[in-house]
Amino acid sequence: MKIMVVGGGGREHAIIKKIKENPDVEKIYAVPGNGGMAQDAECVDIDAEDVPAVVGYAKELKPDYAVVAPDDPLVAGMVDELEKIGIPCFGPEAKAAIIEGSKAFSKDLMKKYGIPTAQYATFTEEEPALEYVSKCDIPVVVKASGLAKGKGVIICETREQAVDAVKSMMEEKKFGNSGMTVVIEEFLEGPEVSVLSFTDGETLIPMISSMDHKRAFDGDKGLNTGGMGTIAPNPYYTQEIADQCMKEIFLPTMAAMNAEGRTFKGCLYFGLMITKDGPKVIEYNCRFGDPEAQVVLPLLDSDLLSIMMHCTDGTLKDADVRFAHDEAACCVVMATKGYPESYGKGFPIDIPEDVRDHVYVAGADLGEGGQLLSHGGRVLGVTERGKTLKEAIDKAYASVEKISFPDGFYRHDIGARAMKALEK
Ligand code: AMP
Ligand code: GLY
Repeated sequence: MKIMVVGGGGREHAIIKKIKENPDVEKIYAVPGNGGMAQDAECVDIDAEDVPAVVGYAKELKPDYAVVAPDDPLVAGMVDELEKIGIPCFGPEAKAAIIEGSKAFSKDLMKKYGIPTAQYATFTEEEPALEYVSKCDIPVVVKASGLAKGKGVIICETREQAVDAVKSMMEEKKFGNSGMTVVIEEFLEGPEVSVLSFTDGETLIPMISSMDHKRAFDGDKGLNTGGMGTIAPNPYYTQEIADQCMKEIFLPTMAAMNAEGRTFKGCLYFGLMITKDGPKVIEYNCRFGDPEAQVVLPLLDSDLLSIMMHCTDGTLKDADVRFAHDEAACCVVMATKGYPESYGKGFPIDIPEDVRDHVYVAGADLGEGGQLLSHGGRVLGVTERGKTLKEAIDKAYASVEKISFPDGFYRHDIGARAMKALEK
């Protein structure tokens, strides 16, 4: 089989490595992929967000199956277009991807169907939004409704910050059209858990839970990033909470999307906060999380491609989905110094042969003589599995230390909070 994977980051590399385990896969085409994954896939230099260009390429390539991994092309309807030319896909159609593409939509959905989430108000005009933040409880969370490359959420500790956040979105249009509608939300507290799930609209199978580490530096200091590391499973996600989430959040969300005529097929991601009043939804994503995919997929002990195809065919109930629930994984992200603010590119990275299988490359090119050169903020993720979380963390850091990337940095405390929770 010929498989096309759309996207070019660490998540896509993790998906590609897992799909490659299927013996029927002859070749994987990554659109655009990146130089660091050239060993695992043929990279095709087309922007993943350029729907007509990707669809045009797919027409020629005629892959047997396609995986659309990033949010932007999903929300823009790439799956709809690929299906029109007869290519079966993993990923939701645009009408379902809206669950991530519009926070105003997802909040209204949760309200309508009684799915627990933070209280909120939605605004399309600046004046009433400013009026609202002049009176609401503080802290408050101001969110651009549309996609904003993970940067559209501002936690405001003071009223002034809330006013600035509203103005930055609605007046200065910092997030373009994505910030024309703003969701202002109650501030929730508690540990965060990411739960990705496979669903075909009839059956929903949660994957092993995980924990992201969003801040740039040790001790959760510094700016928010796309994620500096992950661990799985997440110790805050007990069986009791998992059962409650299935009953109160996961199945009701699947049913709500069906009731709205927006059946979701693909990976539905639940960003949860375990508050003192129980688990609540912080956000939905219409795709695998990054870097969550880099700890969750290595713990999958059955065949990813078959599961994906079962989602597409509506036969997920027949799929063999098995995670190593008695093991753990840790992914440490290496980023270029200066990330997430300004950083250069073209810095050399050397990955020794013995850790290469455990490295997911997010932002690097192949230079002369096959030298790997950085070209992004987050450059790679290193994932190791262990019998315990401690073993996974120690192994991941041992592998990170073998990689030479003098212009890079990484957090030294990925998994530390989870270890503390386990010790309690
Ligand atoms: P999102 O992009 O929606 O995942 O938000 C980014 C991060 O902002 C989340 O992972 C949370 O840490 C935080 N956040 C979002 N909404 C809230 C909220 N209502 N209360 C507290 N923190 C939040
Ligand atoms: N790691 C969070 C996300 O993928 O949105």
